[in-house]
Amino acid sequence: MNPYYQQDEITIYNNDNLEVLKNLPSNSISLIYCDILYNTGKKFDDYEDILGEPKEAMEWYRPRFLEMKRTLKDDGSIFIHCNWRLDSYMKILLDEIFGTDCFRNRIYRKHSDKRGFYSNFDSQVDIILYYVKNSDSFIFHELKNDQLKVIPLYENGYVPERSYTYKIDDTIVDPASLNKHWLITQSQLEKLVSKDEVVVVDSLPYRQTYTIPIGNLWAEDEMLDPYSRSVAAESYDTPKPDAVLERIIKMCSNEGDTVADFFLGGGTTAVVTKRENRKGIFCDISKKACDITIQKLENLDK
Ligand SMILES: C[S@@+](CC[C@H](N)C(=O)[O-])C[C@H]1O[C@@H](n2cnc3c(N)ncnc32)[C@H](O)[C@@H]1O
Repeated sequence: MNPYYQQDEITIYNNDNLEVLKNLPSNSISLIYCDILYNTGKKFDDYEDILGEPKEAMEWYRPRFLEMKRTLKDDGSIFIHCNWRLDSYMKILLDEIFGTDCFRNRIYRKHSDKRGFYSNFDSQVDIILYYVKNSDSFIFHELKNDQLKVIPLYENGYVPERSYTYKIDDTIVDPASLNKHWLITQSQLEKLVSKDEVVVVDSLPYRQTYTIPIGNLWAEDEMLDPYSRSVAAESYDTPKPDAVLERIIKMCSNEGDTVADFFLGGGTTAVVTKRENRKGIFCDISKKACDITIQKLENLDK
């Protein structure tokens, strides 16, 4: 299959993603991110977001996710961005294809601050389902912070299986004696101790670290959709903010790795991939989406 664009290790196909996927080699991609069709029933300029009943949508996605799994490297990861319309169906489908042990997390990305038009708790988040191909070995880098953070390694309440004693700097630490329990297992603790990251304050253990603690609620201002931040409208209707892709690409791939997005849209993944010195394989059925992306990639070189 001929690419629509190929330059600086970035390849873009203007075809149906299933056809593109079938032509890609197995075990070749480190990270897949797809902002899929949410099944909103909306008609955009260049594509229709209509897949029928959720179970019909599952059948449309099944062969695509199977191919994505085949093309992922053994230490690869996949992030499927959807919303409340399909997230539970996609979770069941991805569990079936990747295995429940390969499910890492469900990330809630706050998309808007300016809601409140609808009743029944208007939705302010969408959902990113995160899986790995192999639960024993996958790429994951914690992000670093400039400032030292001190984070408790215990929580209130007695939990028998999290009640061991451990000697740190001549102090026997025993959270159970204070009716508390360890948040981590002994082998996880040993790894932190070997990195000199554990301190004891008032008989209780804390981790001191330069790592930024990132949970599964991504609600920082830069994560919001452009319209919610009053950023000027783009040439593309439904762009995701660069910050979402920056976090995923930096944490779950290395420089030089191949990143792919098979629902490319306005090209956010392609732009961040190039900026972060990764290779890219991208695809969109819409020529307009491919052209907007190519324009953005060329602007990066100016
Ligand atoms: C939600 S948008 C992606 C937006 C993108 N994340 C961004 O930041 O701009 C989904 C894209 O999937 C594309 N698409 C829909 N069906 C497709 C198919 N079968 N194969 C490839 N692309 C498809 C649409 O043309 C649309 O551009």
